[in-house]
Amino acid sequence: MLLTNATLATLTGPERYGLIEKGAIAVAGERIVWVGKADAIPAEYKAQEARDLGGRLVTPSLIDCHTHIVFGGHRAREFEMRLEGASYEAIARAGGGIVSTVGATRAASEATLLTNALKRTDALIAEGATTIEVKSGYGLDRETELRMLRVARSIGRERKVRIKTTFLGAHAVPAEYAGRADAYIDEIAIPTLRAAHAEGLVDAVDGFCEGIAFSPAQIARVFDAAKALGLPVKLHAEQLSWLGGAALAARYGALSADHVEYANADDAKAMAASGTVAVLLPGAFYTLRETQMPPVAAFRKAGVPMALATDCNPGSSPVTSLLLTMNMGCTLFRLTPEEALRGVTVNAARALGLDDCGTIAAGKRADLAIWDVTDPAELSYRIGFNPIHARIFGGNE
Ligand code: NIG
Ligand code: FE
Repeated sequence: MLLTNATLATLTGPERYGLIEKGAIAVAGERIVWVGKADAIPAEYKAQEARDLGGRLVTPSLIDCHTHIVFGGHRAREFEMRLEGASYEAIARAGGGIVSTVGATRAASEATLLTNALKRTDALIAEGATTIEVKSGYGLDRETELRMLRVARSIGRERKVRIKTTFLGAHAVPAEYAGRADAYIDEIAIPTLRAAHAEGLVDAVDGFCEGIAFSPAQIARVFDAAKALGLPVKLHAEQLSWLGGAALAARYGALSADHVEYANADDAKAMAASGTVAVLLPGAFYTLRETQMPPVAAFRKAGVPMALATDCNPGSSPVTSLLLTMNMGCTLFRLTPEEALRGVTVNAARALGLDDCGTIAAGKRADLAIWDVTDPAELSYRIGFNPIHARIFGGNE
C-alpha cells in the first residue's frame, strides 16, 4: 500500500505534530516501511499503486488506554440522583456506584456482556480507534472477574482491534466483604489475579486507591503480587482526594497513574523519574462536575507524558468517544490540541507499554487514521463531529 499526497501528523520528534505536508507512507504487510515527502518516494515503493489522499490528514490511529468497557446494566438512575444533589461518593457509600454495577455484571452472561461491550467498542472503532485497554473490576469475585477478562479477549477476536486487558480486582470492596477490605484483597483479589494470569488473561494490573476503595498499603500488596508474576502495574490515583497513590505507583515503576486531579508537583517529579504516564480522564471530571484540575503545568514542567482516555464506564464516565475526550481535554484541562492528539496516540501507547504503535514511522505497525480535515487541531476543536475517512489496522483498511 502506498498513501500519497497526505498531510502527515507523524508525532515523531517534538516539533509541531511532526507534520509532513505533501507526505507519503509506504506499507508492507502490517508495518510501515517508509515515511517522507511524496516527491522523495524511493524507487522500490514507487512501483506500487498509489492512493492519492488529496491532502487529507493522516494520524496514527487512536488508542484508548483506560476503559471499563465490559459491564452489566447501566446507572442512569444515579445520573438522576446526582442531578437531585447526591454526590458520587455518597451514592457509592450507600451501596450504589461501582458495587451496583457489580450486581448487574455478576447477573449477566458472557454473551450479554460481549454483545453490549461490542456496541461500545464499535463506537470507538468508528472514530479510528485500533487499540483499546479493557479492565475487569465489576466482578469482584473469582468467577465474574475471569468472565469479564474472557469477554475482553473476545472483543479482540470479534473485531479488528487490539485489546490490552487489565486486572482491576482492587476496584471496590464487594458487599459480602463490607468492612473487611484487607480480607477481600487476600482472599479474592490476589488469588483471582493469579488464576487470571494462569489463564493468560492479564496484560497489566490496576487498582483504585481512594477513600471509597483501597488504601496505598492495600494497593501495595496487590502490586507486590503483580510484580511477582512479572506484570506491569498502573493505578486510579488522586481522583477524589490525595492519598499518595501517584507516588506509590511511581515507586512501583507503574505504566501510568490515572485521573490524578489531586496529584501535586512532587508527584509529578516522582512520575517523571519513573517514566509513569499521567492518564487524564476528562469524561469523569465532566460527568462528576469536579473542580480540582489535574496539575497539567506541573506535568509539563517535570516532563511527565500525558495521555487522554475515555474511562468508558457506566458510572463516572459513560463516554465512548475519543474525539470528544480530546475536546474535553483541551476545554476543561487546557491541553493544546497537539497534546490532546499525542494523548490518544503516542502517549497512550506508552501508557500501555507499547512501542510498536502511536506514531507514524518506519517499523511501526500500519495503524493509521485518515481524516477529512487538513489541520490536526480540527480533531480537538469540533464537538460531536466525526471526520474519519478511513481506518487502517495492521495494514488493512
Ligand atoms: O475510573 N475511579 C474508579 N473507577 C471508575 C469508576 C467506575 C464506576 O463508577 O463504575 C473510574 O472513574
Ligand atoms: Fe477508571
